[in-house]
Amino acid sequence: MKPEILLIEPMMPDVEAQLDAAYQVHRLFQASNRAAFVADIGPRVRAIVTGGRTGASNDLLDAMPELQIIAINGIGTDAVDLERARARGIRVTTTPDVLTDDVADLAIGLLLAAARRICVGDRFVRAGCWPSGGPPLATKVSGKRLGILGLGRVGRAIARRAEGFGLAIAYCDPNRIADVAYRYQPELKSLASESDFLVVAAAGGAGSRGVVNRAVLDALGPSGILINVARGSIVDEPALVAALQEKRLGGAGIDVFAHEPDVPQALWGMDNVVLQPHQASATVETRHAMADLVLGNLAAHFAGREPLTAVV
Ligand code: 8YV
Repeated sequence: MKPEILLIEPMMPDVEAQLDAAYQVHRLFQASNRAAFVADIGPRVRAIVTGGRTGASNDLLDAMPELQIIAINGIGTDAVDLERARARGIRVTTTPDVLTDDVADLAIGLLLAAARRICVGDRFVRAGCWPSGGPPLATKVSGKRLGILGLGRVGRAIARRAEGFGLAIAYCDPNRIADVAYRYQPELKSLASESDFLVVAAAGGAGSRGVVNRAVLDALGPSGILINVARGSIVDEPALVAALQEKRLGGAGIDVFAHEPDVPQALWGMDNVVLQPHQASATVETRHAMADLVLGNLAAHFAGREPLTAVV
C-alpha cells in the first residue's frame, strides 16, 4: 500500500509524476469543496507536501490524526505551527541551500531594476516613446550603501553579490555574525537611515512581523529603495504604500506581499516600483533541486530513516 499524501499546491509535472509513483497523492488544489475533501481523506493522510508561503493550517493538521511529516517545498516555516507539529511528533522538513543563489540573484535583480528603472525603460521602448526623447534619468547603484535585514544564508549570498557592485554593506540581525566583515547595526531604523538600499532577507513569522514600519521607511527616505524577497509580513504594507504615495520613500522592488496573490492596486501604476509574483526561487533548475529534497525527505521518512533536512 502506497502511503497517502496531501499535495497542497501544484509542482512541476515530472515532480508530481514522481510523487504519484511512490504515493497515493491527493491534490487539494484540485478539490472543488476543500472542506469535504479534507474530511474525506484527512484520516488516511500520512504526509503533507506544501509550499513555504502556503504551509499548512492547524485546522488541516487537526483533520489528519495519522500525519507524520510535512515536507515544505521552500525554506519558510512561518506558515506551519512548528510547536504544534513538535508536540504531535510530526516531522517538518524544508529545502535549505538549494534556493539561496536564486533568491539572492532576484534581490540584486530587483535592486538593479528598481534603481535603474529597467522595467520603465522596457515599457518606454515598447510604447514607441523613444523617438520622442529619452526617459528620466535613473539612480546609480554601484558604490552606494546597502543595508541587509537578516544575514542568514540568503542575506549572506546577497552581500557577496553586492560586494561585486562595490556597495558598502551593513546588516541588522538579532545576533552579530562572527565570521563576516560587514558592519553590524543592531537597530533597524539606524540601518535604514545609514543605507541607500535596504534589502529584506529575514525569516517571516511572529518575530519579524511588521518590523519594516513607517519609521524605518522614513529613515530609508525619499531617495531610498526597499527590496523584499523574504516575506510580505515583515513589511507594514499599508505604511509602504503610503510612503511611496507620499514620496517619503524613493522606490521598491517587491517579490512578496502581505496577502498573496493580492497586491495593493496603488502599487500597480507606480513607475518607481518593480513587482514580482513571489518568484525568487522560481527557476526550473532550483525548483528541481527543491523537489529532489522534498522527495528525498519523504523517501527517507517512509523508509524509517532520518529526513535529510528536518527542522522539526
Ligand atoms: C517558494 C518560499 O516560492 O522558500 C520559501 O519559503 O516562499 C519560496 O521559495 C515557495 O515555497 C513555493 O511554494
